[in-house]
Amino acid sequence: MRGVGLAFGAQVIFQDMELTLYEGEILSVLGESGSGKSLALKMMIGLTEPDRGSVHFRGRDVAAMDGEELQALRREAAYVFQEDALFDSMTILQNVGYALIERTKKSDAEIRARAVECLAMVGLPERVLDLYPANLSGGMRKRVGLARALAFSPKLVLFDDPTRGLDPQSITLIGRTLKKLHRELGMTSVLVTHDLRTAIYLSDRLAILRDQKFPNVGTLAELRALDDPELNDFLHDPEEELWGDVMAEDEGTFSLD
Ligand SMILES: Nc1ncnc2c1ncn2[C@@H]1O[C@H](COP(=O)(O)OP(=O)(O)OP(=O)(O)O)[C@@H](O)[C@H]1O
Ligand SMILES: [Mg+2]
Repeated sequence: MRGVGLAFGAQVIFQDMELTLYEGEILSVLGESGSGKSLALKMMIGLTEPDRGSVHFRGRDVAAMDGEELQALRREAAYVFQEDALFDSMTILQNVGYALIERTKKSDAEIRARAVECLAMVGLPERVLDLYPANLSGGMRKRVGLARALAFSPKLVLFDDPTRGLDPQSITLIGRTLKKLHRELGMTSVLVTHDLRTAIYLSDRLAILRDQKFPNVGTLAELRALDDPELNDFLHDPEEELWGDVMAEDEGTFSLD
């Protein structure tokens, strides 16, 4: 994103905002509520257009893309909504298979098989397929949202606050799931989160959104090395080492049955 400006009436969200995302990394976006994190994600895949500046995907200006290119971009990229955004009247199978049903000519059996695969990737058993979102816990619904995003084997996944509102145990599980997915699928991810621990555990780099831009982007060590008391305070986690051990425990072998 280059020189991006965005405002709603008098409310300025971004001004001269710059952000670069590298292939293969996990970048965490941290910032106050209402600062524009979700909007930044939406701009990355052309769901929101900036008033000024430009957004490029692999060197192509998203605003200049024709319908076909935009469709290809959205197929490569998956956006995991902040709200789990599942369809309440549809089963988990229909939710996870939704885009496959809409956009491909796959048979019912193929869609079911792919849904089972995607659910397995996020640690959910096949038996949830015929349940409805209301039958699942908040943490499970979040995972169904992730499974749905994986249906097309995305290269880029934008996670909007996947751990919000979850209990500590579910946060740990989601964190491990994301790490495992990232490792196994080799995708590029942007993670918006309020949870510093999840961000520290998962990210290659952190991007701090404040004053309508990303003034601080870098590894945790780089950001901590800056002489910025406010930022250091924000990035301080007294139980960090303990947390790292908890997250690493049984990594990759956990089961969520
Ligand atoms: N379509 C819109 N029209 C008008 N204002 C909007 C629109 N979309 C977002 N906003 C405003 O822009 C600001 C930033 O919104 P955004 O959803 O990106 O915040 P956020 O950083 O994701 O917050 P949170 O952490 O609470 O999710 C908010 O004040 C929001 O009300
Ligand atoms: Mg948001």
